[in-house]
Amino acid sequence: MLHLRVSMDKFLVRGGNPLRGKVEISGAKNSALPCLAATLLTAETVTLHNVPYVKDLITQRRLLEDLGATVLTPELRTHKVNAGNVQIFEAPYELVKTMRASVLALGPLLARFGQAKVSLPGGCAIGTRPIDLHLKAFEQLGATVSLEAGDVVARAPKGRLVGNTIDFEKVTVTGTENVMMAASLANGKSTINNAAEEPEIEDLAELLNKMGARIKGAGTSVIEIEGVDALGGAEHTIIPDRIETGTFIVAAAITNGEIEIKSCMPEHLTAVIKKLREVGVEIEELNQSTLLVRCCPGGLTSKDMMTEPHPNFPTDMQAQYMALMTQAEGTSTITETIFENRFMHASELIRMGADIQISGNHAVVKGKTRLMGAPIIASDLRASASLVLAALCAEGETTIDRVYHIDRGYETIVRKFRSLGADITRITESLGTGSAAQAGEAAK
Ligand code: UD1
Repeated sequence: MLHLRVSMDKFLVRGGNPLRGKVEISGAKNSALPCLAATLLTAETVTLHNVPYVKDLITQRRLLEDLGATVLTPELRTHKVNAGNVQIFEAPYELVKTMRASVLALGPLLARFGQAKVSLPGGCAIGTRPIDLHLKAFEQLGATVSLEAGDVVARAPKGRLVGNTIDFEKVTVTGTENVMMAASLANGKSTINNAAEEPEIEDLAELLNKMGARIKGAGTSVIEIEGVDALGGAEHTIIPDRIETGTFIVAAAITNGEIEIKSCMPEHLTAVIKKLREVGVEIEELNQSTLLVRCCPGGLTSKDMMTEPHPNFPTDMQAQYMALMTQAEGTSTITETIFENRFMHASELIRMGADIQISGNHAVVKGKTRLMGAPIIASDLRASASLVLAALCAEGETTIDRVYHIDRGYETIVRKFRSLGADITRITESLGTGSAAQAGEAAK
């Protein structure tokens, strides 16, 4: 039986220190999650390196183990998964409600075993996040899909999916990943039109191809998949986390510091780098995997920004950008086109002294404002990152509550910020359990 424990830890931040030094970027959470799900597609062992030690990955590992897979971690960030003995085809609500990425088990289970049951994810802090497009695509691949007591039950009538053309009416990252995995073992050829183009999709396709899949076009809007009878073992290294990279770029800029960001892939965040350069952040590419970031001497200038699917500005960097815009001269309008309700960080930034007006999916930020430390509450993963950034440049002391959100996706964040000279401390108010991030911070 799975017990997911929530840590009640807080961060205490004393702002004002310019961050200086070097930081190593961890593996991408949003790539490691689908890659771990992909291990369900084969009875052979798949070894993944550079898996970040964050709460969501611990949850994903538990899901694999609950299904009957064996997961070994010879090193903290290496997962060797063998799903040869999987006999359960079900992801329970207990798991899905804490981590939506558990729906990524649906495609692989359905493709390999001809059946899968996954609890339907409900609303979450950043709005309703339906999976109707995934389900419609599975039906197009020949599955029957029904909803039974809150669970999605999918079956492939003759035990195997059949290749088809899927036209996604909306770009969906998780949907593209789920369908790409399912189609890899389908009978015949599939084409995904209007596919998501995120680097994490390309990374997953690379792993699947190493496992014997025949996928072309991942990273573009049209993906072609020639189904194969079986997939085998493989070894793969997860790409660096582009959102963590972007968060540290903003950290350097907002604290007027200078940070060398190592082990990153700048080519994965072209739109973010372009926008941040426009507002005045100096970003130098020292080599293919290292950035040197400092704030410009003349200060920051406000620029409008709109989130859109890759290769445009990612929704996962919107909150951090908003924190930065509170420190820029002028007025900027930030438009969120991917999710409703993704401005919850705004009210906390306002508590710290920011001037932000929300109307629908637009946020109008007037800068530059003096931010003052205050007690604030994190509401989701990326919102928490933006609050830490604001706290780092605020005067005085900020306590950030509910940091379990940040523990979901940022590895050893306190340790990384402290090594750059930030005054940030984790205050543990544990309910008799340690948090994933703490364990990760201790393990490093
Ligand atoms: C989205 C982001 C991703 C980010 C992640 C976590 C995009 C395109 N995707 O991915 O970059 O890392 O959130 O913040 O920016 N939708 C449906 N039906 C479906 C699936 C999706 O209507 O079956 C809608 C969603 O409500 C949303 C949009 O499509 O408005 C994009 O959703 P999707 O890309 O699937 O979300 P994630 O995969 O979670």
